[in-house]
Amino acid sequence: MDLYDRSIEIILANQAHSGAYPASPNFPTYRYSWYRDGSYIAYAMDLVGEHDSSRRFHQWAATVVNARADTIRRAVAKAAHNEPLTGSDFLHTRYTIDGNEASGENWPDYQLDGFGTWLWSLNEHQRHTGIELDAKWRTAATLVADYLTALWARPSYDCWEEFPDNVHTHTLAAIHGGLVAHQAFDGADHRMTLAALSEFIETKTRMNGHYVKFPGSDAVDASLLGLAIPYRVVDLDHPGMLDTVAQIEATLRKGGGVHRYPTDTFYGGGEWLLLTCWLAWYYLESGAYGEAQTAIDWVEAHVTAEGHLPEQVPENLNDPACYGPWRERWGDSASPLLWSHAMYLVCETLRRHASKQSAN
Ligand code: BGC
Repeated sequence: MDLYDRSIEIILANQAHSGAYPASPNFPTYRYSWYRDGSYIAYAMDLVGEHDSSRRFHQWAATVVNARADTIRRAVAKAAHNEPLTGSDFLHTRYTIDGNEASGENWPDYQLDGFGTWLWSLNEHQRHTGIELDAKWRTAATLVADYLTALWARPSYDCWEEFPDNVHTHTLAAIHGGLVAHQAFDGADHRMTLAALSEFIETKTRMNGHYVKFPGSDAVDASLLGLAIPYRVVDLDHPGMLDTVAQIEATLRKGGGVHRYPTDTFYGGGEWLLLTCWLAWYYLESGAYGEAQTAIDWVEAHVTAEGHLPEQVPENLNDPACYGPWRERWGDSASPLLWSHAMYLVCETLRRHASKQSAN
């Protein structure tokens, strides 16, 4: 079985009865469903025609949000009065597959990007199925849009669950992409927030030409790819985006795979499969098919004997001294990581489409 079919099989086999996608079935702290991972997985399922799988995820995700309408309204009201959010005033980033907050673990749960990604993924679901979104999903989407509108300018943990004191460029991109998507499927008017987001991104998150991880940093983070793909805050060939991709290639790609950011030490800071796919996705959308193929080949070369794609591989480590302690504590990197398989499916779908086009 090729990796494309195997990836679909792995995602379907691990989707819970509730519709939730666990981040990874074999890694103790990843048995939860994240909005970020799940929304990309649902998108990949829509691309490959597995609409029932994505429908079930969105149903789960909307139910989790609607059950927390009071929390969201409280957070929005506090933001309006410039009050800090406390203990239970925010949406967690990940939930048990039954839709509950994870208990007993101190996790950096205050993250906003996954909810923007969910709005984007909902719109993609509608586009790919041609079916109008369920009224309850739209209620949830409106709650999420209100929540993001109220909170985007405040610091939150980034998509890697770190740096809680900053406003993150990738998070802003995901929120921008989500609000544009919400306008598209709901007719909502987010123009004022979108203009403020764009202005913040252009004036505060660029240095020496390229975008940076967060205002004040001069480093890139591979998640900045999201500015162009899939959130389309800027064009693929926007000068700032071209400089950002050049920086990612120069500083985050020592071998064939892509690192998260230069000082990442999680598992020693290895090369991430899903980020290598993300770069390939950017190349494919830009028509750089040779570069895309090289990146996809690298990903395929790292599939395990069981046909699994891990989160990261310990190659060209940023900080080799950190690898041993992480491995001693948690074992190998999470594998299979469903988000890695999803990103591979996105690339492989686009690659096959492009090669069919060129054959015709
Ligand atoms: C990553 C997150 C991801 C989570 C589950 C974390 O290590 O930093 O981006 O959502 O794992 O895959």
